Amino acid sequence: MCGIAGFIGERETVPLLLQGLKRLEYRGYDSSGIAIADDGALRVAKSVGKIAALEDKLAALGGFAGKTGVGIGHTRWATHGEPNERNAHPQLSPDGLVAVVHNGIIENHASLRAALEAKGHVFKSDTDTEVLAHLIAEERDAGFSLPDAVLHALRLVSGTYGIAVIDAREPSLLVAARKGSPLLLGLGTYGTFVASDVSAFVSGARKVIYLEDGDIATVRRDRLDIRTLDDVRVARTPAAVDPAAGAPEKGGYEHFMLKEIHEQPEAIANTIRGRLLPLDGTAKLAGLQLEARELASIENIVLTACGTSYYAGIAGAYAFEQFALIPSRVEQAAEFRYRNPIVRPDTALVAISQSGETADTLAATREAKRKGALVLSVCNVVGSTIAREAGRGVYLHAGPEIGVASTKAFLCQVTVLNMMALLLGRTRQLSNPEGTEMVKAIESLPELVRRTLEKEDEIRRIAERLAGAKDAFYIGRGYMYPAALEGALKLKEISYLHAEGYHAAELKHGPIALLAEDVPVVACAAKIPGHEKTLGNIQECRARKSPVIAIATEGDGDIEALADEVVYVPPCAENISPIPVVVAEQLLAYHVARLRGEPIDQPRNLAKSVTVE
Ligand code: AGP
Repeated sequence: MCGIAGFIGERETVPLLLQGLKRLEYRGYDSSGIAIADDGALRVAKSVGKIAALEDKLAALGGFAGKTGVGIGHTRWATHGEPNERNAHPQLSPDGLVAVVHNGIIENHASLRAALEAKGHVFKSDTDTEVLAHLIAEERDAGFSLPDAVLHALRLVSGTYGIAVIDAREPSLLVAARKGSPLLLGLGTYGTFVASDVSAFVSGARKVIYLEDGDIATVRRDRLDIRTLDDVRVARTPAAVDPAAGAPEKGGYEHFMLKEIHEQPEAIANTIRGRLLPLDGTAKLAGLQLEARELASIENIVLTACGTSYYAGIAGAYAFEQFALIPSRVEQAAEFRYRNPIVRPDTALVAISQSGETADTLAATREAKRKGALVLSVCNVVGSTIAREAGRGVYLHAGPEIGVASTKAFLCQVTVLNMMALLLGRTRQLSNPEGTEMVKAIESLPELVRRTLEKEDEIRRIAERLAGAKDAFYIGRGYMYPAALEGALKLKEISYLHAEGYHAAELKHGPIALLAEDVPVVACAAKIPGHEKTLGNIQECRARKSPVIAIATEGDGDIEALADEVVYVPPCAENISPIPVVVAEQLLAYHVARLRGEPIDQPRNLAKSVTVE
């Protein structure tokens, strides 16, 4: 996902922009650039690749050092136009006096571009963003101030944007606007920051303002004005900056992903903290802002998400049905938003998103709201768009997840969904003793994960057997089915080894034709209902010569004879059984990717949060 960092104030501008962009690197990008206003002109530097290449470009161009005032910067994850310098942001107006950085997609950019070209505009890039720079320039040429020029231009565009704009002729202000792509203002003692993520300015700002869709902010050194696209002034209340969103460090691990795998016991402990009531055998989730009576009136649940969060949703749906007896289904967010789903007033939509910014999940949330559903969010990033628009939900409190491959978020999502199932169940037929049992199971999770992490050396050895494969299958049934899907996703997205997650019973309906001695199968075989059937599926795979790596429960006496390799994880209740199994799969994927020499934290083609459709 692209990153925006801007500043206006009394400090040297470029170092602050670069610091902000470096803190946004984890989001994944392929080019970057900055622009500052200097003595009636703009100084611009852009480069393909990492921020280090941009720093080299700044040094080669010269003239940026020591400059204070206003500037904007951007890390770009290409959507329209190849990753190259021409398409990197900032994009400029024809006269080179206005610079724009943009996150999102201008959906009508082609028609706007054609109309501008018909008037003689010449475009230098293939980006949708450059259209904005030209539209603003036209308004400036017509005599409008920069804030008004931006307002008029944005009224012409459809799609999503988070933008920051500067003009060499008005160096005392910066204009920022958002619609569908997050943008925040950081209020510091020596100036004001603009960014797409609070981590970009966490050390420089004490207060943060989350702009709302349609907001246009005019930021001066000593004043801030926010108005809507209808030109109505609005006030946005500043919030305290969460210091935990600070610059992420690897803590001695080689990769953020490994650090985040190993901090999962602590992450789950933070997720659970203060939310379980052992004596009452229930959970306390204040963020839902729902009385027991309202919880008891929910008659069906739709969980919606993408990727790893979608797989957590499958485990959540099983728990909702098992403990609260509420019909629950999971829908891929892009499907939900476009298929005109049936949603009734007694439907609760649970939107699951680590970043809280995934475009399809956000759109699904809006669609459910339009249809009158009760919308709840399960997000990790505080103040994220999905969390704010849902208005109620449960934060993971897992801490920043920097690795593009989601790890601790999955475990904490499954934990939160189980606590929600417990809470809902206790407004129905789940008894106090049964609830207390669930509380104990959830409370055991940090230790369960800790014990699984102790198997890393064994898993690293097994990874050597997988690292040379080209294709692999992951299989599981019941609560092991989402575990199989998640394990396959982890392996493919960081090691680039093709892996498919399949329901164990489904393999024989076609995919089994692919099994051979060079197609390993990872069997999620925790000792839960369906285990016997999975043992049979393992034998089917072995009969087709596929090597089988089983992830099984300690003390399982049957699996040893059936699998080529076995990773044993601690026993636990079936509703939380995906957690230790997925921890083993995370480590397996990590060590396979490491053996294959892949980058791991920022896999090719991927972004940490997919804020475009
Ligand atoms: C998971 O490892 C991937 N990075 C991806 O599937 C991710 O889970 C998906 O894009 C959803 O992201 P979200 O949880 O931030 O909405």
